[in-house]
Amino acid sequence: MLGLKLPTDPRWVNIVEKNIDEILTDHAYCEQKAASTAISLIITFPEYPELIQEMIALSREEMGHFKMVHDKILARGKTLGRYRKDEYAIQLLKFFPKGGNRTTQLVHRLLYAALIEARSCERFRLLSEELKDKELADFYQKLMVSEAGH
Ligand SMILES: [Fe+2]
Ligand SMILES: [Fe+2]
Repeated sequence: MLGLKLPTDPRWVNIVEKNIDEILTDHAYCEQKAASTAISLIITFPEYPELIQEMIALSREEMGHFKMVHDKILARGKTLGRYRKDEYAIQLLKFFPKGGNRTTQLVHRLLYAALIEARSCERFRLLSEELKDKELADFYQKLMVSEAGH
C-alpha cells in the first residue's frame, strides 16, 4: 500500500529497543518537522487554497503528535534531547532536482514529504508489531493509523 521499494530490516527494532530515549527524541523532532514543512508549504505556495486548508489541518495534527511523543518522553522521566541532523531526509532531498517552475517545485516537495510519511508509517507498524514494551507498541499503533492518512 505504501509503495516503498525496500522494507526496513526487522533487526532495526532491536536497535530501537536498546535506544528508546534517543529514538523518542529523534521521533519528536520528525513530528515537529512535519508540522513545520506543512507551514512552509503554506508560505511558499499561497495561491492554492485547498493546499492551505489541508496544510493547516496537517500542521495541527503533526504538532499533536509532537505533543504525544513529548508527553511520552516526560512520562519516562526524561526531557527532549538536542536536535540531530537527519541524514536520511538530507539525502532524500538531494534526489530531487533544484529549480523548475512552481508546479514542479510543489510536486517535488509533496513527493519528498510523501516518501518520509510512507517510511514513518512503515516503521511505526514495525514498532507496533515487534516492540516488547506493549505500552509503547500501542502508542506506535495509534500513530501508524494516523500517519497512514497522510
Ligand atoms: Fe505525525
Ligand atoms: Fe505525518
